[in-house]
Amino acid sequence: MDWGLKNRLSRIIKPHNNRALMLAVDHGYFLGPTEKLEEPKKVIAPLLKYCDSLMLTRGVQRTSVDATSDTPMVLRVSGGSSIIGDDLSQEDITVSLEEALRLNASAVAMSIFVGSKYEYQTIVNLGKLVNEAEKYGIPVLAVTAVGKELGKDARYLSLACRVAAEQGAHIVKTYYCDNFEKVVESCPVPIIVAGGKKIPERDALQLTYNAIKAGAVGLDMGRNIWQSEHPVAMIKAARSIIHGNSNVEQAYSLYKKLSANDKPNNPNQKKNKSKKPNNPNQKKK
Ligand code: R5P
Repeated sequence: MDWGLKNRLSRIIKPHNNRALMLAVDHGYFLGPTEKLEEPKKVIAPLLKYCDSLMLTRGVQRTSVDATSDTPMVLRVSGGSSIIGDDLSQEDITVSLEEALRLNASAVAMSIFVGSKYEYQTIVNLGKLVNEAEKYGIPVLAVTAVGKELGKDARYLSLACRVAAEQGAHIVKTYYCDNFEKVVESCPVPIIVAGGKKIPERDALQLTYNAIKAGAVGLDMGRNIWQSEHPVAMIKAARSIIHGNSNVEQAYSLYKKLSANDKPNNPNQKKNKSKKPNNPNQKKK
């Protein structure tokens, strides 16, 4: 492996324990102002020092992250659909590799939609992105997006992860599922698990623990951190599993201890679930 590629990868997956804690804040690229991520700058600032890397778009990086930060950036370079559009799988590459270099990205990320209408387009785009990114030694993280009609089970996720790895993705991000070991075993590159929709904190820590136990190198968690009433307590608790080998009880105790004297996240903020426009024709995610 080229030195630059290896070096960038080591910034994301820590070589001393082969683990990674990525904070995901890229949701706005198709969801717009996601609940509790309306002001990315305010969300990111207190969490930045507790994640190994930050997954985001160029817009959020430029506007909402201090340029003196030494946290590695995983730059989403795909997009093209929104939650009110016809089909979320209709994505293309929207950010060039030159731009990724200008932004000092440690990796680039894009989604593939296996089993969806635009499967071909997104998989070919992944192959092309790997061709280009390897010229510059930039790792590619493939996000395996899943349509609602396709169950997030081990059989389907194994397929999606393996397809991504076969195209040359250096890291694959997917969802946790039962029999996750099977997904890990059949994917020859490291797997990072997405947190998914907000669930109770203890359950999110259980998911973290289970994913690591099943062989994932780490987590790319978003909503279960910044939609928590106590985001800093939550990221520290997740970190204690990923980098401190805590079990679920230890991590949840840490969360409760840290949150006891902490002011709740946006206590006066109106619940804005209605901010996500409703599109009855939208099938994905
Ligand atoms: C989807 O919009 C993004 O790829 C997120 O980065 C990914 O889903 C992880 O975020 P969460 O933990 O909120 O699912």
